[in-house]
Amino acid sequence: MFIGIFIGAITFTGSIIAWGKLDGKVPSKPWSFKGLQTMNLVLLVACTILGVLYCKADGTSGMLYLGIMTAIASFIGVVLVMAIGGGDMPVVVSMLNSYSGWAAAAAGFMLGNDLLIVTGALVGSSGAILSMHMCHAMNRSFFSVIFASGSGNGSGGEKKAIEGEVTALNHEEVAGLLKEARSVVIVPGYGMAVAKAQYPIYDMVQFLRKAGKNVRFAIHPVAGRLPGHMNVLLAEANVPYDIVMEMDEINDDMPDTDVVMVIGANDVVNPSAQDDPASSIYGMPVIEAWKAEKVIIMKRSMSAGYSGEDNPLFYKPNSEMLYGDAKDSVEKIMGFLKA
Ligand code: TAP
Repeated sequence: MFIGIFIGAITFTGSIIAWGKLDGKVPSKPWSFKGLQTMNLVLLVACTILGVLYCKADGTSGMLYLGIMTAIASFIGVVLVMAIGGGDMPVVVSMLNSYSGWAAAAAGFMLGNDLLIVTGALVGSSGAILSMHMCHAMNRSFFSVIFASGSGNGSGGEKKAIEGEVTALNHEEVAGLLKEARSVVIVPGYGMAVAKAQYPIYDMVQFLRKAGKNVRFAIHPVAGRLPGHMNVLLAEANVPYDIVMEMDEINDDMPDTDVVMVIGANDVVNPSAQDDPASSIYGMPVIEAWKAEKVIIMKRSMSAGYSGEDNPLFYKPNSEMLYGDAKDSVEKIMGFLKA
């Protein structure tokens, strides 16, 4: 009971903070202070002592120890997630899923319910395995993310100044570029999900493929807000798997690509992850869209992505912005392609 409530309380308050961060209600920037790790360690030791006392106690004092531990664990959940930066949130989301499984497994032992133990352990271990894969994909250390010890969150020094000018084009010009292109790569991101643009995008892809063009999707492991978010949305629109490529599979093809359409993506194509040690996403592998001949970035404004970092890709000489809602823009481009 004690272990189940301990993990459950951390998961509950941690999940509320994670929801707040994903929904923009809590700042996505890491909130931390010197001594945070020591404080967490002291709280963990305190919970262990309370656990021993709880096992030895009678009914009334046992409930008191349980209540104190619940308050401490709830507090740990808040500070653990508050200390994690925007770019590392994908790992936190899958770790919280994992914790919920372990809490359920502990409850299974308390109730003597084998099914709950097995399903809880499956959720717990699969969440932990997914988190480790995500850390690998993002070039982060698993323990530094989970204990928010800050590795990989940038050096905190002065950020590189962004050079270049932002230029924009219109839907008709994008259609013209697509008509000329032989190979096209589409990089979808969170904005595609918000706009529900996957259906018109796939109509456009089918149209271009019928015209003999090589059109593929490039998927970053943490694009969107959920593990596999883009894959699920594209599958929903019946996009065949053989044109949906992982970042590692397609990055080498970028220099031979005529047009890259970045649709509602931002952080996953941010070059500062490679060349600005002061950036909070430094070290995270990204889709190297800027290596293509032409990059079209489809979003509504110049605003930053989830990490809050500016994106130098928008200022590159081969980049052009196409402002507007992703679904609306794709439908307009399609109108010009058919004309
Ligand atoms: P983001 O970096 O969040 O950028 C999404 C962009 O979409 C925004 O810059 C926004 O710009 C644009 N947008 C929003 N609504 C739009 C619309 N209706 N039409 C067109 N554009 C729209 O997304 P990303 O590149 O997919 O990167 C994901 C980020 O989320 C990463 O930092 C990742 O670490 C983090 N994250 C991921 C997960 C998982 S598990 N995938 C979980 C938590 C956090 P405008 O406002 O200018 O339109």
